[in-house]
Amino acid sequence: MRAGDHRTKDRQTIRLTDKGVMDLRGFLAKAESAGHLLTITRPVDPYLEMARVIGALEGRPLLFTNVKGSAYRVAAGLCAGRHLFALALGCEPEELLFRLAEALAHRQPPPLVDSAPCQEVVEPEVDLRALPFLTHWPGDAGPYATAAVTFIEDPETGPSMSFHRLLRLDERRMVGRVVEGRGTHTALGKVRGDLPVAIGIGLPPHVLLAAAMSPAPEVDELTIAQALAPTPLVRCRTVPLRVPAAAEFVLEGRITRRTAAEGPFVDLTGTYDTLVRQQPVFEIDCITHRREAIYQALLPGGLEHKLLMGLPREPTIYAAVNQVCDCRNVYITPGGTSWLHAVVQIEKHGPDDGRRAAEAAFRGHTSLKHVVVVDSDVDIFDPQQVEWAIATRFQAARDLLVFEDQPSSSLDPSAEQVPGRKARTSKMALDATIPWDTPRGPSEAKAFRRVALELIDIADYVEAGDKG
Ligand SMILES: Cc1cc2nc3c(=O)[nH]c(=O)nc-3n(C[C@H](O)[C@H](O)[C@H](O)COP(=O)(O)O)c2cc1C
Repeated sequence: MRAGDHRTKDRQTIRLTDKGVMDLRGFLAKAESAGHLLTITRPVDPYLEMARVIGALEGRPLLFTNVKGSAYRVAAGLCAGRHLFALALGCEPEELLFRLAEALAHRQPPPLVDSAPCQEVVEPEVDLRALPFLTHWPGDAGPYATAAVTFIEDPETGPSMSFHRLLRLDERRMVGRVVEGRGTHTALGKVRGDLPVAIGIGLPPHVLLAAAMSPAPEVDELTIAQALAPTPLVRCRTVPLRVPAAAEFVLEGRITRRTAAEGPFVDLTGTYDTLVRQQPVFEIDCITHRREAIYQALLPGGLEHKLLMGLPREPTIYAAVNQVCDCRNVYITPGGTSWLHAVVQIEKHGPDDGRRAAEAAFRGHTSLKHVVVVDSDVDIFDPQQVEWAIATRFQAARDLLVFEDQPSSSLDPSAEQVPGRKARTSKMALDATIPWDTPRGPSEAKAFRRVALELIDIADYVEAGDKG
């Protein structure tokens, strides 16, 4: 089956670019003109080889134009850096948290269009094997779709969008990892038979970011996407759902009551999630796509995975901490696999602000394991400054908070894992802010401040070119 062979009657499709819609192709063009995009023309195999190339070129958006065994090109690494999200959203990297917080606070209903590029081609037969699912690591259970975004409708709370890794079983079926207690798992528990599903593959960074967010259940993540950038939707052909009109591929079907073995798989922590779980089977009844469609890959455990997991949690932590004190910024650190560790920056106005900020951070991101709270004079993006604050402002007997037997991310290999149950862990917070009540009173606070040498112009002191 070759890409674009099977045209349905030529429908008038809306030229989304006129509406300033950022689709995957638009983003690739932007990344190219910004000098970030790398095009790989040499034939590459989705079985292990492509993941190795993506890993070796980590941080760069890539377009594979010659994919062995498939007629479709493959894009990867679109979200492999804060600068790429900033490029997609038209802001500076350090403004990302505030753009996301703004979008979370001021959501917008996406417009609905009658016909869309994602339905330019309706495949007469369903054959998932024509899509270049990558096998990423030799120990993985098989070929997985890892940048696929799932659209469902919860009977009570409405539309929901999220990621599920999907292991291809055959031409019509996949098995998906559906983490207990999240939106899709909850919706499945509310319906008797199969749950209608649509899966979008080939989406721009702002839609991927919104899909990775975990707002309140009644919040449709697509309204966050629309607040970030225009995201028109179209009705699916065979299921009562709506999907981004600019998606490259849409797979329509059902999450069934049947289960299959899912895993092992290398996940966010870069370690094998060795548990083989019985997980829901997704059955596909209809595939539509754009002409010359581009498939999207995402390296599990890679930077893109980490940023997509961590970045959307910064605004939710920021919002939660701001409910109890004056939060200035939040950074989910790459060292904590961009999921388990955070640094929270506050402007302290009271003795308990540090402790309250820490407790709020765990509410703002329930999978958070460790958090360090610092004052506004500490650069949270500089790990040395954060360590300096711990070294000079933190006393374990006074400022260490440990919370035992807490709900945990299933991704933490050190957590207590019981199949079918939420994992459990201990959580820890370090209040590394200047102590409020110091024995010798507020005057002592000065002792905690880093002294800075007055700035000088070095050119006044060294010969040009002798900058060492
Ligand atoms: C790249 C990526 C892969 C993910 N894979 C899965 C997965 O396989 N299963 C899952 O349940 N959640 C996965 N997630 C997390 C959910 O998509 C995410 O937490 C989402 O926000 C859940 O939303 P909900 O709480 O509204 O359901 C993944 C997230 C990202 C960014």
